Amino acid sequence: MDGPPETFGSPYRLLSAAVVPRPIAWVSSRGPRGENLAPFSFFNVVAIDPPIVMVAPVGVGEDRKDTPENVLATEAFAVNVVTGDLVEAMNETAATLAPGESEFERAGVTAVEATAVDAPRVAEAHVSFECTLSESMELGGSTLLFGEVVHAHVDDDLLVDGKLDVTKLDAVGRLAGGYYASTRDRYHLERPP
Ligand SMILES: Cc1cc2nc3c(=O)[nH]c(=O)nc-3n(C[C@H](O)[C@H](O)[C@H](O)COP(=O)(O)O)c2cc1C
Repeated sequence: MDGPPETFGSPYRLLSAAVVPRPIAWVSSRGPRGENLAPFSFFNVVAIDPPIVMVAPVGVGEDRKDTPENVLATEAFAVNVVTGDLVEAMNETAATLAPGESEFERAGVTAVEATAVDAPRVAEAHVSFECTLSESMELGGSTLLFGEVVHAHVDDDLLVDGKLDVTKLDAVGRLAGGYYASTRDRYHLERPP
């Protein structure tokens, strides 16, 4: 079968099932809508000098989610990396809560103040990036947030010779719907010269 993306249900259905596994940014922020914590799998690294990550919550203008609303106001956020031990807590924070209800409390995780930016971060996360907003744009019905990573927290036991060892991280990726993938099953390939 082939055709435009709508042929396969919806563009979202097709792309989210084929572009897998997607890393998950567990974004903590603070702003007009209070302290906030929510997962986003439309997320990646887009540049390294300076280091820039991008998160793309669906919704623009008045339909913006709390995370972009906060980030646009404070120009700051933290990306907490989701690992196997935190995946259920992460999932809890995707719920729509009543105003005033805390996602940190609901998920049973601790908000601690970021070191370099005006945002909370998740104390239990093994890796967190503190970001300042470098650019934002509305595209395809989403609000793209580009964040420069200005400070990082990495648990000491994930480091080998001062560098983050991916085999120790136990990161989780999102597939489609309620499916997730762990990074425990992996293999190594030599790159051709
Ligand atoms: C693993 C996972 C990934 C998600 N990725 C996205 C995403 O990329 N974009 C989006 O708009 N919502 C995504 N969501 C849904 C948001 O997390 C959800 O709408 C959340 O309530 C938004 O919170 P906020 O309004 O506090 O910002 C995802 C949910 C889960 C569980």
